[in-house]
Amino acid sequence: MNVFEAIEWRRSIRKFSRQKIEADKILKILEAARLAPSSSNRQAWHFVVIDDKEIINKIPDRVPAGTRGIIKWIKDAPLVIVGCYQKALTHYIAQIFKHENHLIDISIAMTHMVMAATELGIGTCFVGWFNEPYIKKLLDIPRRYRIAVLLALGYPAEPSNKRGIGGINARPRKKLKEIVSYNKFGKKFNPDCCL
Ligand SMILES: Cc1cc2nc3c(=O)[nH]c(=O)nc-3n(C[C@H](O)[C@H](O)[C@H](O)COP(=O)(O)O)c2cc1C
Repeated sequence: MNVFEAIEWRRSIRKFSRQKIEADKILKILEAARLAPSSSNRQAWHFVVIDDKEIINKIPDRVPAGTRGIIKWIKDAPLVIVGCYQKALTHYIAQIFKHENHLIDISIAMTHMVMAATELGIGTCFVGWFNEPYIKKLLDIPRRYRIAVLLALGYPAEPSNKRGIGGINARPRKKLKEIVSYNKFGKKFNPDCCL
């Protein structure tokens, strides 16, 4: 599978089989994060790998009432990777100019993991809906770290097919012409631009 095939085939997977992810595959996924680019090569990230069912079961607790549905499926994931970052000096300097490079860095690293997992036939889903103070306490994450996002991983419950990993159809995406501006009509940003 080449990178573009993996990009097309990936889906958010929220139903997992009971099969555990092999240790060598977890290492490969983490290696993909390790090799990710980062601003000033600061690599100011840390990944907490959770395979303890008891802890995973507790992740959906303490989200605001009425919102547990967004995250409760995570209990069935055999593995969760918590994406943490600690701002480096260069990140603080970038922030003076309103650049949120720390968030970009961790997002790229997490995306590398998603793509590596996809290539290995492992389903993933980002989880942005969590209670950060609670998860930090649950996992003993030091105060100086922030959690950007959680990544649930596991083999999909349903068989994969040509359409997508886990047999899931692609969710709709905007057309390129809706999201791309070509700087060819004398305008710097042209939201009405047609390809
Ligand atoms: C930063 C981020 C946070 C997300 N948080 C959640 C979440 O808390 N719960 C959930 O079920 N899906 C979550 N998702 C998954 C999105 O809903 C999903 O990517 C989107 O609907 C597109 O579907 P697809 O990934 O299958 O293409 C999140 C995705 C991203 C990128």
